[in-house]
Amino acid sequence: MSAVLTPLPPDGLDPSADRPQTGDIPEVIHKDACAWVMRGDSARLLEAVETPAANLIITSPPYALGVDYGQTVYADDQPYTSYLEWVRTWATTLYRVAAAGGRACINIPLDSNKGGKRAIYADYLRIFQEVGWTYQTSIVWNEQNISRRTAWGSWLSPSAPFVTAPVEMIAVFYKGSFRRPARDGRRGDITRDEFLAWTLGMWTFAGANPRRVGHPAPFPEELPRRLIKLYSYLDDVVLDPFVGSGTTLVAASRLGRRSVGVEINPTFCDLTIRNLRGSSSGLAAAG
Ligand SMILES: C[S@@+](CC[C@H](N)C(=O)[O-])C[C@H]1O[C@@H](n2cnc3c(N)ncnc32)[C@H](O)[C@@H]1O
Repeated sequence: MSAVLTPLPPDGLDPSADRPQTGDIPEVIHKDACAWVMRGDSARLLEAVETPAANLIITSPPYALGVDYGQTVYADDQPYTSYLEWVRTWATTLYRVAAAGGRACINIPLDSNKGGKRAIYADYLRIFQEVGWTYQTSIVWNEQNISRRTAWGSWLSPSAPFVTAPVEMIAVFYKGSFRRPARDGRRGDITRDEFLAWTLGMWTFAGANPRRVGHPAPFPEELPRRLIKLYSYLDDVVLDPFVGSGTTLVAASRLGRRSVGVEINPTFCDLTIRNLRGSSSGLAAAG
């Protein structure tokens, strides 16, 4: 693959830079015809790449819910205010790594219920806009997961009932101009039926099974598949800064897009590489 994100020469790295740092500078540990896997801290991606080149960012970050992603590399139990500061750090990095006209699709819950009810989606909308992204739209992912519905607040009483929406959100942002004309031979691959269905911002499909995937919080391939077809051209560069089991990279490869995934946990890096090897590449088919 030609330079997707050009690694900086070693003397261009500045590990002592004055910014919050929670992990190592990402390094490329796997490359194939379509995809790069980088192991490290995505908040430090700027220290590893010099070319802003991501046309589409798709990700589902940790939500500070105490999920065990391997506590030695990332502890998912920060206080909410520190968590939001951390979000600001990597949202800024992503803005700089995005190409002009790049889009970012961030999958987040509406609310977080850990340590009291938090409007996490609203906080993300605010932070992303504050660091430079322009808001485009919201897609509701109707995951139909009602198995978590156990806390009622006050049962059958208006005293303090809890209302829980069994949905997640996908916030869509862009950098610069939203319009990306199909020039320079760019072409898309979305069908008429897909376009009609997916431009209605209520998507209904099931979530992924963590046990089957071998990762605590994967999203299903259908999620990046739709976003990639809707928001990118063939041969665009798709970035997932929290790649987990590699779902976004697998979807991108099958759809003939180049992709880069960053993951801090080496075990999940290995899982991503295995999943990439197990999926058939669409780049060859795309010519
Ligand atoms: C919600 S999961 C992503 C799951 C992914 N969408 C999938 O389908 O498998 C978030 C991932 O971010 C990783 N992570 C946490 N902090 C990170 C950081 N600073 N840089 C890169 N990856 C990080 C975690 O190890 C975890 O695998």
